[in-house]
Amino acid sequence: MTRESEIIERLAAEQTLAAEELSILLTTDDKTAEERLRSLAAETAQRIYGNEIYIRGLIEFTNYCKNDCYYCGIRRSNARAQRYRLTKEQILACCKEGYGLGFRTFVLQGGEDLYFTDARICELVAAIKEQYPDCAVTLSVGEKTRESYQAYFDAGADRYLLRHETADEAHYGKLHPAEMSFANRVRCLKDLKEIGYQTGCGFMVGSPHQTVETLYADLKFIREFQPEMVGIGPFIPQQDTPFGDRAAGTLRMTLRLLSIIRLLHPHVLLPATTALGTIHPKGREMGILAGANVVMPNLSPVNVREKYKLYDNKICTGDEAAECRFCMQRRMESIGYRVVTDRGDYKED
Ligand code: 5AD
Ligand code: FES
Repeated sequence: MTRESEIIERLAAEQTLAAEELSILLTTDDKTAEERLRSLAAETAQRIYGNEIYIRGLIEFTNYCKNDCYYCGIRRSNARAQRYRLTKEQILACCKEGYGLGFRTFVLQGGEDLYFTDARICELVAAIKEQYPDCAVTLSVGEKTRESYQAYFDAGADRYLLRHETADEAHYGKLHPAEMSFANRVRCLKDLKEIGYQTGCGFMVGSPHQTVETLYADLKFIREFQPEMVGIGPFIPQQDTPFGDRAAGTLRMTLRLLSIIRLLHPHVLLPATTALGTIHPKGREMGILAGANVVMPNLSPVNVREKYKLYDNKICTGDEAAECRFCMQRRMESIGYRVVTDRGDYKED
């Protein structure tokens, strides 16, 4: 047995990985090992979720943001971003269309927009839950107080996505201005979990200053935090940000990390992200074949899609919700999977 295959078999059997083993798995050129990692991860996902892929309807409802993260195209200092926010009516119209298309989870994602006060967010969540009691509502609106998170939860929100971005404090400081801190990020994630949300953390692959050591810290953080969901996708530069001339994260790295996360956390909900579909035309399909089990097609109105540009060259900006929905279905069927129209909750043993 090669060193690589030893590491992979033990990772799959015991859900363990040491730092130097991660380094080997991320850098090996051994094609057999790479394929074994991928196929074991895909089998693991299939053992728990079968060939079913969960779909979530993503509604990007505001691109105003008070934060200034160096990597993100909707950071407040980007004067070139054309700002928009959807009205409650527009958001509910997205849900209506999405419901008709079979979506049973709506993800409300936006920048940290002060217009959307707790009262407005609660009103939105309550309206969606009232009209679609059989649907899950996922919020992805950034760092808030525990009281805010509790209020959204009481209004009916089920899940919350807040990527930790990096679990290495020094690295965190290189991606964010000084007013943001890893400590507060973790505080938020812990509050969310304690309140009772199904919670997602995650990070970008290939973000500036990322190393094998920071990635190992990410895996360790995920291990300790035990989220229900993990969102990872390649970093992609956005030209109007401080990292506009950096290299993008690679397909190869992202796929390997998806597989490693699947093997470490067999049950976790793991999306093949839009960013992965952006760096390669078949990126999302390859993500599923590497162990992902969730896709999140866009439900936002076409006239705002181009504006929610966290990174350059984002796909699907010209496609109607229905087109994305059926495109996704075809894509999944082309690789032997099927999209299912239920809430797609985390499966316990
Ligand atoms: N490339 C890839 N992903 C990005 N995100 C923000 N900016 C970029 C970028 N340039 C990710 C962050 C954030 C999520 C909503 O999008 O990880 O948490
Ligand atoms: Fe949007 Fe294919 S998923 S066009």
